Amino acid sequence: MTSTHGSPAAPTAAPVLEFRDLRVDFRLSGSTVHAVRGVNLSVAAGETLAVVGESGSGKSATALSALRLNPEPPCVYAGGEILLDGRDVLGLSERQLRRVRGAEISMVFQDPMTSLDPLQRVGHQITEVLRLHGDHTRAEARSAALTALDEVGVPDPERRFRQYPHELSGGLRQRVMIASALVARPRVLIADEPTTALDVTVQRQILDLLVRLQHRHGMAVVLITHDLGVVAETADRVAVMRHGEVVETGDVEQVFARPAAPYTRRLLDATPRLEPVA
Ligand SMILES: Nc1ncnc2c1ncn2[C@@H]1O[C@H](COP(=O)(O)OP(=O)(O)OP(=O)(O)O)[C@@H](O)[C@H]1O
Ligand SMILES: [Mg+2]
Repeated sequence: MTSTHGSPAAPTAAPVLEFRDLRVDFRLSGSTVHAVRGVNLSVAAGETLAVVGESGSGKSATALSALRLNPEPPCVYAGGEILLDGRDVLGLSERQLRRVRGAEISMVFQDPMTSLDPLQRVGHQITEVLRLHGDHTRAEARSAALTALDEVGVPDPERRFRQYPHELSGGLRQRVMIASALVARPRVLIADEPTTALDVTVQRQILDLLVRLQHRHGMAVVLITHDLGVVAETADRVAVMRHGEVVETGDVEQVFARPAAPYTRRLLDATPRLEPVA
């Protein structure tokens, strides 16, 4: 038995980001949802950790906590810590958090239309994180944004830079989101269902792109997905969540070959075909 059960997902290298006994509640009028109930997870540079589990199991609430992006209220961080190079992000001021967002930890979400501002040109949105951190001239920010657009495979970056989100296809918008997530060269990228809204061929292209960029930049990647085929192809380790807890973690191959938790077994049984693609 090589996969672990209920213990921290331990990468072999030193972790860049580590969730320790994280507890997240949503306090609603009359009731409290314990969305995250003592989650332990970690991810190292150059590593992809996939997080899977049924809807409502706390995947997004966990991920959003890394940048304190759950709406407060109703969210209350009820316990634990999230260490970025050993520093607890839950203890940072709003001002310190702004320096972490995008520059050290970036996020890509499912629907780029909700993350992109419809009234701002694409270029403005990509350079924003650089302007926010203040150490780039306008020309440097523009040049970094054009490089990022090129790197994520957006054809004719100069033209796209001047366009508005609605002028782009869904696949291009997601590439723009990834460009803006990567332009400041963060050490951690958290992608929450980054391809769910896209059609199958575009999904594949975006995932290939994420894998290539990760190898090039050595980022730590946390990939939240419902698609166990995607996990098999892209992730090093996997954490399975259920009811706000991690029920199993381990190397993808080991967990998929010999799942320890009954819930993981059920998840795998419900997935039609999982042979790695040659
Ligand atoms: N802003 C919020 N206000 C109130 N409850 C919330 C909020 N965000 C999440 N929750 C609750 O916390 C629990 C975990 O939700 P979360 O979004 O993390 O699930 P998930 O695993 O990401 O699901 P999915 O696969 O559907 O995206 C759910 O019960 C959800 O209803
Ligand atoms: Mg979610």
